[in-house]
Amino acid sequence: MSNEQAGIEAPTRHEKLVAWVREMAALCKPERVRWCDGSKGEYDEICELLVKGGTFTRLNPEKRPNSYLARTHPSDVARVEERTFICAATKEEVGPTNNWAPSGEMRETMQRVFDGCMRGRTMYVIPFSMGPIGSPIAKIGVEITDSPYVVVNMAIMTRTGSKVIDALGTDGFFVKCMHSVGAPLSPGQADVPWPCEPDISKKYIAHFTDSYEIWSYGSGYGGNALLGKKCLALRIASVMAKKEGWLAEHMLITGLESPGGEKTYIAAAFPSACGKTNLAMIIPPKGFEGWKVTTVGDDIAWIKQGPDGALRAINPEYGFFGVAPGTNMGSNPNAMLTIQKNTIFSNVALTDDGDVWWEGMGPPPAHALDWQGKDWTPDAGRPAAHANARFTTPASQCPSIDPDWENPAGVPISAFVFGGRMSKDMPLVYQAFNWSHGVYLGATMGSEATAAAIGQTGMRRDPMAMLPFCGYNMADYFTHWLNVGRRVSNPPRIFRVNWFRKDDQGKFMWPGFGENMRVLKWVVDRVRGRGYAIESPVGWMPRHEDLEWKGLEFPAEKFYELMAVARDAGTAEAHSHEELFDRFFDRLPKEFTFEREMLRSRLWRSPARWELAHES
Ligand code: OXD
Ligand code: MN
Repeated sequence: MSNEQAGIEAPTRHEKLVAWVREMAALCKPERVRWCDGSKGEYDEICELLVKGGTFTRLNPEKRPNSYLARTHPSDVARVEERTFICAATKEEVGPTNNWAPSGEMRETMQRVFDGCMRGRTMYVIPFSMGPIGSPIAKIGVEITDSPYVVVNMAIMTRTGSKVIDALGTDGFFVKCMHSVGAPLSPGQADVPWPCEPDISKKYIAHFTDSYEIWSYGSGYGGNALLGKKCLALRIASVMAKKEGWLAEHMLITGLESPGGEKTYIAAAFPSACGKTNLAMIIPPKGFEGWKVTTVGDDIAWIKQGPDGALRAINPEYGFFGVAPGTNMGSNPNAMLTIQKNTIFSNVALTDDGDVWWEGMGPPPAHALDWQGKDWTPDAGRPAAHANARFTTPASQCPSIDPDWENPAGVPISAFVFGGRMSKDMPLVYQAFNWSHGVYLGATMGSEATAAAIGQTGMRRDPMAMLPFCGYNMADYFTHWLNVGRRVSNPPRIFRVNWFRKDDQGKFMWPGFGENMRVLKWVVDRVRGRGYAIESPVGWMPRHEDLEWKGLEFPAEKFYELMAVARDAGTAEAHSHEELFDRFFDRLPKEFTFEREMLRSRLWRSPARWELAHES
């Protein structure tokens, strides 16, 4: 394929885009270049190609119309954080929580590894928009990839194709997103179902934050390969947001509508695989008849000041890339209904009747093929689906999708909710005393390990659930958050929640799922100025009678157990905040030192075990 050809075939007169595609074709040396138009015909054709190549298995069209199962290479199943790099001129810019690589050096490495990396393959060019096309909050990217799996997943997860090319015009700005699975084919060499670079030390997920470029090599899975998601919409966007005065956050967005029709939107941050998708699509429990919950997004929120000075958010994505295991008609019926058709499943089990199954979906089939295509029976002693198995599904199919989810102006945000997965000591819910205390609560979030990334163990601090996704020094990110609060009118109220506290027997103390609505209703009451709260050492707390209990038997004593603050554990927790903060040295906002000392002194003055029962 000649360079000329790439240009001639280009469906655009955007010179910089055409020149970049030519340059990348010359570097990667693919067999051919294909500009994706985002059409249904193209989607079906590429799925067919994936079926023929053995990457996809078509599911039973009666049970799962137009849906596929993909099995990845067993080494390519999750994000690779230790191979994720933020490339900038200095280490200080990227901070102590990111892997820094000097831009110049990484540029040379990328030129070397991408040289000839697409031999024998098709190079696809995918123009995509993060956010409704034309929204003042949206951004355009172009992903170049040699993975047809990426093409069809991007078609679900983002708005792709000709309409994006039209929006770009002849000189619009786009983020360059380069991707290769890193498995060139020599002449005559047969392909494998899941090509990738199996050696983890040869994978790279590199972000150039000065030039807003992404170079991803060696992995075909999820956030490593669908570059609109974590790479653009969080790591690169967080840098843009800081420069341009807005927020790019790892947050779901959900709308809560009371029986009287009053609608309140909240944005909530949880670390990966803590049930964000479930919360985004929550079904109000018994006792909440007449309430409606709607979904704007399940993973990422781009939040900007609107013309009235208040914060408004869009979901930059177009689909859900949700964790399958644990999803069922009880935990998340809306997700189960969303994935009935037009869905790509990755690394789940295949039942004998051509449908999908995973742990926690329901009763196991007597026989299935596991995520690696091996025979599986319930007594196999190993899970049938990978813990990080996923579904890629159109957001528009979600029964709870919000009527305004594509509103280019976004939806108004009234509250931020931060939550980790903490089995001990962290109360169910409390509200920050003010914005800077709230930012502190978000920054000190912690969580016990999940399956969304390789190699995680134990508890880790995950500020705002952004630890793996903030594209610059997190100390500057905290300062940015503090500044946003100073600028906006009527800043959202900030809350901390924890659904995962366990009792001494190791049992969850809170039922979670739909019952979380009881907590969210109190959040709504608080932001509407009518919810009651009392002051605890850690923040404002509801008494038992401040939550709606209709439909759930949950005695006050049990609730107070769930809300108790242990002085010693709280003090140890406050102390351990320093371990994170010390890493930032003098870049840490002064407000944080102040907040920590205030927390300590409030705890110091409190009884050994502070209980709501004694206060209310
Ligand atoms: C995700 C993640 O895939 O956070 O959403 O890891
Ligand atoms: Mn996520």
